[in-house]
Amino acid sequence: MEKNRSSFTGKLGFVLAAAGSAVGLGNIWRFPYLAAEYGGGMFLLVYLILAVTFGFTLMTAEIALGRKTGLSAIGAFRALDKKYSFIGYLAAIVPIIILPYYSVIGGWVLKYLAMFVSGNGIKTADGEGVFFTGFVGLVGEPILWFGIFILATTLIVLFGVEKGIEKASKVMMPILVVLTIGVAIYSIVIDIAEDGGAGLAYYLIPDFGKFSPMTVVAALGQLFYSMSLAMGIMITYGSYMKKDVSIEKSVHQIEIFDTGIAFLAGLMIIPAVVASADTASVGKGPGLMFIALPKVFESMPAGDIIGAVFFILVLFAALTSAISLAETIISILCDKLHIKRLYSILIVFVGCILLGLPSTLGFGVWGHIMPLGMDFLTFFDFISNSVIMPIVALLTCLFITFVIKTKTIEDEVELGGKFGSKTMFRVIIKYIAPVFLVIILVSSVINGLIDAGYITGKLAEFFAI
Ligand code: PFF
Repeated sequence: MEKNRSSFTGKLGFVLAAAGSAVGLGNIWRFPYLAAEYGGGMFLLVYLILAVTFGFTLMTAEIALGRKTGLSAIGAFRALDKKYSFIGYLAAIVPIIILPYYSVIGGWVLKYLAMFVSGNGIKTADGEGVFFTGFVGLVGEPILWFGIFILATTLIVLFGVEKGIEKASKVMMPILVVLTIGVAIYSIVIDIAEDGGAGLAYYLIPDFGKFSPMTVVAALGQLFYSMSLAMGIMITYGSYMKKDVSIEKSVHQIEIFDTGIAFLAGLMIIPAVVASADTASVGKGPGLMFIALPKVFESMPAGDIIGAVFFILVLFAALTSAISLAETIISILCDKLHIKRLYSILIVFVGCILLGLPSTLGFGVWGHIMPLGMDFLTFFDFISNSVIMPIVALLTCLFITFVIKTKTIEDEVELGGKFGSKTMFRVIIKYIAPVFLVIILVSSVINGLIDAGYITGKLAEFFAI
């Protein structure tokens, strides 16, 4: 099955498809709340530095691995050296952890869309999170919306209409960008008028006093998540890429697009939170977008309509990403476990419901169960982004350095033109990334132990944000 893969037509086709996977809830929901939580401008600065160094290097490596072998993650590692196919399997676990809780958030988006479409947006706009906490604390309704989201995702995959959705999203994405810019400008104006620009300053000016090892852990996890790295996805996308397309240029374009949207989402949400003099919600975590934005929409003229349009666009971005996560899992079930496609889709549907249940109930009836001191959704998010993904990234770097050598990747990149950042690529993959990733992993584990109460005192203070 993996032998006859089609290619993307030309360069734009590849960039758009990869961007479709990259741009999603990660940019609009996850980036702003992490930036708000981990020191505003400090987080932004660390993220940008990591994006142009680590993000660039890892995405280039993954795309080249895929294009060289013409295979998706498990096959690619196996084809290059049979002993290392386990790296591909480890990468494959990540979408299985992410898709269920991604769908829980997709369900929240659906609920908010329904509220705004039915003219009830105002009810969500208390700014204190009363509506949000009330809603996620329920049992039946969040499960219903989450179920609808995962049903929609699997039905789209079942009927093979992804292409239609992707086409629609190519129209929706630019509208999302324009709308986000509009709302961001509005948020900034209000912030300047009411708060002297305090929110904007918090987001844009790094406060070095706010730096902690966890800023880097969180920024790196966000980078992997947002750019769909360290989970085999970009290897698969690379396997569809034509040999004469420049990997380096494509990576730059995806990065600029993905980071641009995340940055704009931050501009739209963070100043609004601080502007509403509601600094308490800076620490609102996964609910931040759902608490901050309705307030902004409701203070705008025609806010209900703007809110409804916004949540439709976010829904499309979330759906294209969820489809790409679901397809990855389904292709593994079909190709590696030889399960029929229809059954594979059914397994993904049922599996997602089961694995997503703790994440949705964790804000209500299961709120007292706190693995590592986190609610279930944050726990799954942490395990995939701050533990498994850094391990996959580390193993990928070591595999390239010691097993296939950096030259294999460099030669593949050079098939599509000059590799301008070759030296940076080599230095990062061989030296910087491995050391750094080990530090990140150790920090993640220590932080987990602190949160769970096993470590206290000076070390815990050092890690505190
Ligand atoms: N990169 C997506 C986002 O930022 O929302 C999340 C994601 C989608 C990860 C699809 C992986 C994937 F295959």
